[in-house]
Amino acid sequence: MEVYITSREITQVIKIKKAENNSIGFVPTMGALHKGHLTLMEEALRNNDYVVVSVFVNPTQFNNPEDLNKYPRNLDRDISLLKTLSNSNIILFAPTVKAIYNDKIETESFDFDGLEHEMEGKFRVGHFDGVGTVVKRLLQLIEPNKAYFGEKDFQQLQIIRKLVKKRQLATQIIGCQIYRESSGLAMSSRNERLSDLQKNEAALIYKTLKTAKLKFGTESVTTILDWVSKVFLNNTILKLEYFVISDEDTLKPIKIKSNNIKYRAFIAVYADEIRLIDNIALN
Ligand code: PAF
Repeated sequence: MEVYITSREITQVIKIKKAENNSIGFVPTMGALHKGHLTLMEEALRNNDYVVVSVFVNPTQFNNPEDLNKYPRNLDRDISLLKTLSNSNIILFAPTVKAIYNDKIETESFDFDGLEHEMEGKFRVGHFDGVGTVVKRLLQLIEPNKAYFGEKDFQQLQIIRKLVKKRQLATQIIGCQIYRESSGLAMSSRNERLSDLQKNEAALIYKTLKTAKLKFGTESVTTILDWVSKVFLNNTILKLEYFVISDEDTLKPIKIKSNNIKYRAFIAVYADEIRLIDNIALN
């Protein structure tokens, strides 16, 4: 596997691969790779000649410095995991903060037509400006034909689609299904930090989403919102931050359903200081 750490190297290598008529897929990550990431890479490898995987813990998207400090980093382990992929046409880009931001760690401000103000945007101020800043830089550097993002961060996926449209970037954005542990818990690098007890209890998140989906066919939105807050009310391990039912395109929360609109339920939960998010398509 080829590994590059500077922007100059990666752009040169990609230039050569493109000149040889190869298509380039891109899977941006913050490392601490898990099976969920590998499914994105497998999908990318099936549809592109080469796949660039970036491993970069982006400082501008963390509103909480402790979360940034504690974010798991283990490049050797990530490399070993990447080597388990059957197709070896992976190019690893693991830049330093300086390689991406030069000497100034600055965040660009974006207007994502309101998508950035819902859910995560309310609880993680500035988060999507940080994501937009780094994803735009990476897409401009790599210029991939296709870039792959997991639906676990569905709001991020919609925001990146908006970014690409608004900035007229020539990359097709592909959303990939959530990969789950056998308990139903959505795979996340943050799961590494959960105790066994917290991890067992965290299965309740997906269980609640699945029941909410069943209820969505017959019950009102308000009834479902009330029911979910009761599910978590006396839970001593998981603390509910938000549960909303929203229009999948605008991400605006709703109270009344309309025909011909796709809805999704979104949830954020804390286990101590570890924040877990998940979502499910409702119709
Ligand atoms: O989803 C992530 O891991 C990050 O937000 C991303 C897209 C790699 C940008 O840093």
